[in-house]
Amino acid sequence: MINMKKNNHNHNHSDSEIKSVSFEDMAMEYTDSDDTDFENRIVAPEYNPEDADTENPLRPQTLDSYIGQDTVKQNLSVYISAALARRECLDHCLLYGPPGLGKTTLAGIIAHEMGVGLRITSGPAIERPGDLAALLSSLNPGDVLFIDEIHRLSRTVEEILYPAMEDFAIDIITGKGQGAMSYHLPLPKFTLVGATTRAGQLSAPLRDRFGVVLRLELYSTEQLADIVERSAGILGIAIDREGALELASRSRGTPRIANRLLRRVRDFAQVIGNGVITCDVARMALDRQEIDELGLDKIDRLLLTGIIKFYGGGPVGLETIAAAIGEEAVTIEDVYEPYLMQIGFLARTPRGRCVTRAAYLHLGMTPPEQVGIPEQQTLFD
Ligand code: ADE
Repeated sequence: MINMKKNNHNHNHSDSEIKSVSFEDMAMEYTDSDDTDFENRIVAPEYNPEDADTENPLRPQTLDSYIGQDTVKQNLSVYISAALARRECLDHCLLYGPPGLGKTTLAGIIAHEMGVGLRITSGPAIERPGDLAALLSSLNPGDVLFIDEIHRLSRTVEEILYPAMEDFAIDIITGKGQGAMSYHLPLPKFTLVGATTRAGQLSAPLRDRFGVVLRLELYSTEQLADIVERSAGILGIAIDREGALELASRSRGTPRIANRLLRRVRDFAQVIGNGVITCDVARMALDRQEIDELGLDKIDRLLLTGIIKFYGGGPVGLETIAAAIGEEAVTIEDVYEPYLMQIGFLARTPRGRCVTRAAYLHLGMTPPEQVGIPEQQTLFD
């Protein structure tokens, strides 16, 4: 049991409430219930194997059919045309940004537009240098090799990747001591497409070997509504513009979440409506799943109300929050915080995390009077 320090900040919760239940107890209550667990949140931006059936047929194959990320698309289109005209491989590309925005899809588009094959793997899947050497030497000339979560490659694997990226060759050493042999193995030319949610965690030598670096951003509601309409068309789901906009506005700027919600809302439209996803149907379906107008789910609200109730709205250290809800600090940083920060509900300060005034108001709570509580800040400011 972690030591929950009671905070006597001046806010609108009685002391008895604070003493009777801890943040940890409150979190347990949520995570023990069947309908909410940390891994299977419907609004989680991470890939879940259950997404495969929906996502794969929905992936656009050309830049023209890829909605949003206009700067990325415009630049990529120039690089691809130039490489094709020179009959060369595209430079190695690094895609970074929050999960669920279409990094794998873009790798597929690059391969398709270049007219080459695509091989998909991930940082944690390549355990030993030999695994990477085998993969690289099995590529066809020009292929795209997509490495998701590239920041999770081990150092020894990364070291094989440097000469492969730079000189299209690897040096393999077999045996030890006097009997050690070194082989220089030329590789076919290829394009590495690396994806990461944390560009800052990439080692400098690796980052420097990417000729093209592209940052993906959260989508606007309009763009997400376009994606939802496109997906609905492919899946044969009837939806009107208002329904698509309602669904989009609760999808946290993330196509993966929008497509997942579309599947869930379709069931409601079938059972309680006439099969068409309208604004009312979308609203009712998402309300029933406790996903609010901004796409926050129970766990987001738990995080915010926990910080308010037990830490006076902050500042509170990330490690303390992590211990209270039984999650790793990096998970909180990668999974829960980005959207809460994006919408200006949570602020990172040198002394810890703070819930903002806007978040209090959204939760129907009165913000404390004291100065120092961050105003809503958004990335769009
Ligand atoms: N499905 C997922 N992301 C998409 C995008 N950016 N454009 C079109 N369809 C998508």
